[in-house]
Amino acid sequence: MPFSKDFLWGGATAANQCEGGYNLGGRGLANVDVVPHGKDRFPIITGEMKHLDFDDQHFYPAKEAIDMYHHWKEDLALFAEMGFKIYRMSIAWTRIFPQGDEKEPNEEGLAFYEEIFKECQRLGIEPLVTITHFDCPIHLIKAYGGWRNRKMVDFYENLARTLFTRYKGLVHYWLTFNEINMLLHAPFMGAGLVFEEGENKEQAKYLAAHHELLASALATKIGHEIDSENKIGCMLAAGDYYPYDCHPENVFEAQQQNHDNLFFIDVQSRGKYPNYLLKRLEREEIELPIQPGDLELLAKNTVDFVSFSYYASRVAKVAEQDADKSAGNIFESVTNPYLEASEWGWQIDPLGLRITMNTIYDRYQKPLFIVENGLGAIDKPDSDGFVTDDYRIAYMAAHIKEMKKAVELDGVELMGYTSWGCIDLVSAGTGEMSKRYGFIYVDRDDSGEGTLKRTPKKSFEWYKKVIATNGEDLTNE
Ligand code: BG6
Repeated sequence: MPFSKDFLWGGATAANQCEGGYNLGGRGLANVDVVPHGKDRFPIITGEMKHLDFDDQHFYPAKEAIDMYHHWKEDLALFAEMGFKIYRMSIAWTRIFPQGDEKEPNEEGLAFYEEIFKECQRLGIEPLVTITHFDCPIHLIKAYGGWRNRKMVDFYENLARTLFTRYKGLVHYWLTFNEINMLLHAPFMGAGLVFEEGENKEQAKYLAAHHELLASALATKIGHEIDSENKIGCMLAAGDYYPYDCHPENVFEAQQQNHDNLFFIDVQSRGKYPNYLLKRLEREEIELPIQPGDLELLAKNTVDFVSFSYYASRVAKVAEQDADKSAGNIFESVTNPYLEASEWGWQIDPLGLRITMNTIYDRYQKPLFIVENGLGAIDKPDSDGFVTDDYRIAYMAAHIKEMKKAVELDGVELMGYTSWGCIDLVSAGTGEMSKRYGFIYVDRDDSGEGTLKRTPKKSFEWYKKVIATNGEDLTNE
């Protein structure tokens, strides 16, 4: 039996992709609200196109999303029926601090999450709370320029302290930032950055990176001080870069690209900026805004565990312009000729999960937590609304099989597994509803039409069995 009896099986969501209720309960506006569906989404999430308000030309899927704001009880009951031991969710920052820079929190927002956590407790489900999952109050972007400004650290500290204090005893597992490395690829989504004309973009990204890393260390410190039982983790958009072939230049390129992702976790888990990054930034004349005391804060407040999302491995090749490219989680990569791809072109590599787990565990020697994994696919419900999603079951079974091997055969310490989008929700990358990951179908389409009715898919019963057998039975029968 590879998994201990307290292995944390469950599913994951993010506030902006499922809650909706964007203007309810005193909530303020956030970057994630004004990101539309359609062709402008990508330039906006990458900070290339300034778009900080709603307009009539676009559809904004996060406004209502799947309306979990009103359906959360029903949704939690379905998660409990599947046997979830843990539910990963995020807090919408602007429910707690609508503008972001207030001193006092919004009680209605705090009460909203408290009710959810109490219901989780009643159902025997541990919440795993992401403090920020791509969200940043719009006011903090307009007034302070997002995470390029050091004041963001104080605002985030206030948020984190408020959450740790209010939910003490109700929440024990926390993540500071979702996919922190994504800020290099989707800077508006990851750090509230909109680039100014002529601005040195790389410099702005590394300012933001330092500030988020400080904020993460500070939250880790405060979380431990408020409750020594708190387990606080970092979160990486993972997926090892493979060299395209054994040409040493490609091997070296893969190492460099892995460094670009891993340096965040090097800081959060080892407590120190790695030399490879410091040297590169020096060469590129990019400065980290390090002030007295910062390095000590980072060194003293490392995370308890390392969590990550895994959808696919990636491939590195020098002279990339000559290579075929495949889509991936926000950024594309060179195509791996040995792998199949999803309907959205994301390549499918179950063994890559075992490889990635080994890389991360070898490097940090801390417990891991897989907090996202899954297949975004088009589901076609029958006349009763039932989806026979054998493709999703096959994807997940293959990945869980490799995850088991990493634990059983390689000795990787793994706390749990929460599949992404356990209930259908809005895609972060595309804003589509039709890119579905869930065990539960939600009747809503890309333009916001539908009854919002929830219907368990075939994978619902399958995952229930996986959890009940602690991962022993992965068959699709
Ligand atoms: C991760 C994010 O990047 O991948 C999620 O943490 C996101 O928010 C998930 O939804 C899947 O990506 P997409 O673009 O298919 O929604």
